[in-house]
Amino acid sequence: MSGGPDFHSGVNLGVPPVTYGEGSRPPRGDYAKARADYTCEQDYAQYSEADHDTYRRLYARQLQQLPGLACEEFISAVQQLGAPDRIPRFDDISERLMRTTGWQIVGVPGLIPEEAFFKLLAEKRFPVTDWMRTPEEFDYVVEPDVFHDLFGHVPLLFNPTFADYMQAYGAGGMKASRLDACELLTRLYWYTVEFGLINTPQGLRAYGAGILSSAGELRHSITAPEATRVGFDLQRLMRTRYRIDTYQATYFVIDSFQQLFDATRPDFTPVYEAVHGQSVVDAGVVLPGERNF
Ligand SMILES: [Fe+2]
Repeated sequence: MSGGPDFHSGVNLGVPPVTYGEGSRPPRGDYAKARADYTCEQDYAQYSEADHDTYRRLYARQLQQLPGLACEEFISAVQQLGAPDRIPRFDDISERLMRTTGWQIVGVPGLIPEEAFFKLLAEKRFPVTDWMRTPEEFDYVVEPDVFHDLFGHVPLLFNPTFADYMQAYGAGGMKASRLDACELLTRLYWYTVEFGLINTPQGLRAYGAGILSSAGELRHSITAPEATRVGFDLQRLMRTRYRIDTYQATYFVIDSFQQLFDATRPDFTPVYEAVHGQSVVDAGVVLPGERNF
């Protein structure tokens, strides 16, 4: 996300922000109802029975796919979302999160500018889109909706190491905005938080929200022979382009959440400099000497 007259202030002016890499039409969602920091109340009464039904069906479809494909940390935390038959109340989840890792979730009208997003993460507040996709979008929705944000992202916020990583990412993002390195940091988010894989004694498993909330990509990411899966390396990852319109051609594999946290703890300023001096790598490419999992 970048550009637009409100970008540098990161303050909501009541209109959709200009976003980065998410297509040409403006985000849906009512930005007029959001506060200056882009957060808004979850207007629970606005959900229709059709919205709850869509949530229930999406949840059921993803849940039965998790064994053998999703990481154990995710599977063991998913019930923290509460009853699977209604869209949960954000406040109920926040109460449980607060007791576990000190995080909360906050409503937002949709995609928000990077600066506002980073600031919320640094404050341990995870923004969740408040609207539900239409029944016609059951299989695919362009922008993140309440199901993607809740089901995909929130369970791992109950994991202390992963939650720490998210907070550090937000703090790093606030600094990257000043260093003009947002694109590199967006790649890090994309290839870990959205589309990350983890190597476990039982085999590869998914921990990225974009995978875990997708009907087709969950199995694809773990089993498709045409996808490339390379070991996590911060500079290699930041050099790598990504696709927003198809399943990923490249996935990066971590050994543990601790590895992810440790690799991203040091100051990124020298990393940005090193990456800016190297060539960009297309998605789907395996470089000489790299292991393809
Ligand atoms: Fe997401």
